[in-house]
Amino acid sequence: MVPVRFLAGLELSRNNIMTFNILTLFPEIITGFFCESIIKRAVQNGIVRLNLLNIRDYSVDKHRKVDDYPFGGGRGMLLTPDPLFRAVESIDERGCVIYLSPKGSLLDQQKVRELSRFTILTIICGHYEGIDNRVVEYLVDEEVSIGDYVLTGGELAAAVLIDSITRELEGSLGNNESKLEESFDSSGLLEYEQYTRPADYRGYRIPEVLLSGNHEEIRKWRIKRRLVNTLKKRPCLLNNACLSPELRKLLNEIVKGRNL
Ligand code: 6GU
Repeated sequence: MVPVRFLAGLELSRNNIMTFNILTLFPEIITGFFCESIIKRAVQNGIVRLNLLNIRDYSVDKHRKVDDYPFGGGRGMLLTPDPLFRAVESIDERGCVIYLSPKGSLLDQQKVRELSRFTILTIICGHYEGIDNRVVEYLVDEEVSIGDYVLTGGELAAAVLIDSITRELEGSLGNNESKLEESFDSSGLLEYEQYTRPADYRGYRIPEVLLSGNHEEIRKWRIKRRLVNTLKKRPCLLNNACLSPELRKLLNEIVKGRNL
């Protein structure tokens, strides 16, 4: 019998519980992450469920070997197909099968929202120099990268993916963890700066307008900061941003240097 460990599943309420099947060589990295904070609460509240599979448990090799040299030569070792095929095939309901790798398509908020609509996701974390590509060809539905840099393994990427999906699920955020107003909301603009008490800290003062009590002025200031921040830090986002006529006009003024 191949062990399948249900780490933290709650048989509580919610008919729409999201199940993450995670295939990894380092399950402890993932458990550490799931034992804390908002994700821990989502597990306790029966919003998400984790099913961790240690790839090594599916090796039939007497030394539990899971890797080998690449055909054709080259650097490093690859995960062999058999333990991965066995691990994936041991899961009755796989949902969408995702392989996390730096050569996948780039994860963005739109993709996160798309994936959050599944009820089951199976996530394969690669290691070494990658995995035998037949796994990608015959088992994987989506190959996903979390950014243009290289990690030593897929576990941190899995944590990023799971975190971003979980906060999209209904009931995962408390009242004090707003989902509506934040970077990458539907407008596609970056967020404005926020401040809390004290208004004067070591002589560093917050923008006066926020103390004015003038809601219209505060609203305008915030819109302007969003436009300025996006223009300065992530100008490409403006190509896809969905701007009202008011915001378009303001953006034009900012670009022309008249309204900074
Ligand atoms: Cl998903 N895996 C690895 N190993 N490196 C990455 C990545 C994933 N995404 C960006 N870099």
